[in-house]
Amino acid sequence: MDHFLYRDGILHAEDVPLPDIAAEVGTPFYVYSCATLTRHYHLFEEALAGLDHLVCFAMKSNSNQAVIAHLAGLGAGMDVVSGGEYLRAKAAGVPGERIVFSGVGKSAAEMRMALEGGIRQFNVESEPELERLSAIASEMGVTAPITIRVNPDVDARTHEKIATGKSENKFGIPIARARDVYAQAAALPGIEVVGIDVHIGSQLTDLEPFEIAYEKVAELTRTLRADGHDIRRLDLGGGLGIPYERSNTAPPLPTEYGDVIRRTVGDLGVEVEIEPGRLISGNAGILVTSVIYVKEGDGRDFLILDAAMNDLVRPAMYGAWHDIVPVVEPAPGVDQAPFDIVGPVCETGDTFAKQRPMPPLSEGDLVAFRSAGAYGAVMSSEYNTRPLIPEVLVKDDHFAVIRARPSFDEIINRDTVPSWV
Ligand code: LLP
Repeated sequence: MDHFLYRDGILHAEDVPLPDIAAEVGTPFYVYSCATLTRHYHLFEEALAGLDHLVCFAMKSNSNQAVIAHLAGLGAGMDVVSGGEYLRAKAAGVPGERIVFSGVGKSAAEMRMALEGGIRQFNVESEPELERLSAIASEMGVTAPITIRVNPDVDARTHEKIATGKSENKFGIPIARARDVYAQAAALPGIEVVGIDVHIGSQLTDLEPFEIAYEKVAELTRTLRADGHDIRRLDLGGGLGIPYERSNTAPPLPTEYGDVIRRTVGDLGVEVEIEPGRLISGNAGILVTSVIYVKEGDGRDFLILDAAMNDLVRPAMYGAWHDIVPVVEPAPGVDQAPFDIVGPVCETGDTFAKQRPMPPLSEGDLVAFRSAGAYGAVMSSEYNTRPLIPEVLVKDDHFAVIRARPSFDEIINRDTVPSWV
C-alpha cells in the first residue's frame, strides 16, 4: 500500500494533487511520500519485533538528504557503499554507530573516513580488504569492527544483473573458505570480528533463497563460535522485492520475511541487522512526466514523454516493468489502446514500455511511473545534457523541493576548457 491515490479523479501524493506540484516545479519530477516511507520502515520494525535488531536503510536506493533524515528520525540505521554515501548519512544526522559500510571495493580513503567519523561495522568482502583495513586501523591506533560477507552460492532467482549470492558473482568470500578467513581476521591487530554478513540479491520475490542462505549463515555461526570467534551480530542484507506490476504480482510480506529470520537465526542470541532499500523507498516514490507528443508510427503508436532513460534507467537497463498511469483518472470503461512509451533521448533503448495499453492521452497530459522511489533518482544522469530532475517530498498537504533542477549554466559551467584547446 502506498499514498499515491486518486481523489476526485486526480492522482494525489498524500493530500497534494500532483498537478499542483507540476505547476510549481515543472515536469518531469520525482515525488516521495513521508507516510509511505514511515509505513514501510515500520513494517520491518514489526517483522523483527522481539529480536534484538537494527534496520539499516540501503541508501543506494534513495540517498536524498531529506529521505535519509526522515528515516533516521524514525530510528533507522544506514547501509552505505561509498565514502559519498557515508558523508551523506553523516550530513543527514545519522550517528556513526548506526552506519554499516558495505561494498566490494572500499578504498583506503573511505576506510579512514569511516574510522575517523565513527562506524558500526565494515562488511569486509575479501582478504586483501581485510589486510588493508587492519593496516589503516593500526596506523590510526584503533580497531575496526567487522563482519565478513560470505557468498553462500545460492540462486536468488532474480534478474541476473542484481543477483549477488552465486559463486560466480564478485561479492563476498566463498562460504567454504570462511573459517580460514575468520582465523586470519582474528590474528590481525587492527580488526575486531563482530559477526557475519550476507546479501544474496535484490528484488527477490520468493523467500526460499533467503531461507537457504540464512540456514547456511546459522550453521556458520555455530562453527565459528566453536572456533572461538565472538559472533554476536548477523547482517542479513536486503533484497525483499516489491510489486512492480500490481495487477499480477504479490511478493512476500515483511512479516513472512521476519518469520524466515526467526526460524533460521532466531535462537542464536545474535543481534540481527537487515539492509532493505527497495521495499522502503520503492513504492514511496513516483516519477511524474508529461506527454510531449502522441506520434503515429507504422503499425504502432508512440507516446513521447518528457522523462527519459537518463531520469529512470531501470526499464532500459534491466527490462524492468513500471506501472504507468495517467494523473487524471480515466472514465470507467474507457477504451484503451496500445502505445510504445518512450523518452526523447536519441537511443532506441530509451523505451519505457512496449505496446502498453493506455487510455486516450494528449500533449501536455501528466502521467506517473509508479514504484520509482528506489533506484530512480540515484541512478539518473545528465545524458543528452538533460538536467537532473527535481525531487519533491510530500507530507500530508504540503510539499517541498528536496533537490532542485540545476540550471543549464550550472551544468555547462562545470566543464573547463584548457587554454591550449
Ligand atoms: N545490501 C547490499 C549489500 C546491496 O548490495 C543491496 C542492493 C542492498 C542491501 C539493498 O537491496 P534492496 O533491498 O534494495 O533490494 N539498481 C538495481 C538494484 C541494485 C541493487 C544493488 N544492491 C535496480 O534498479 O533494480
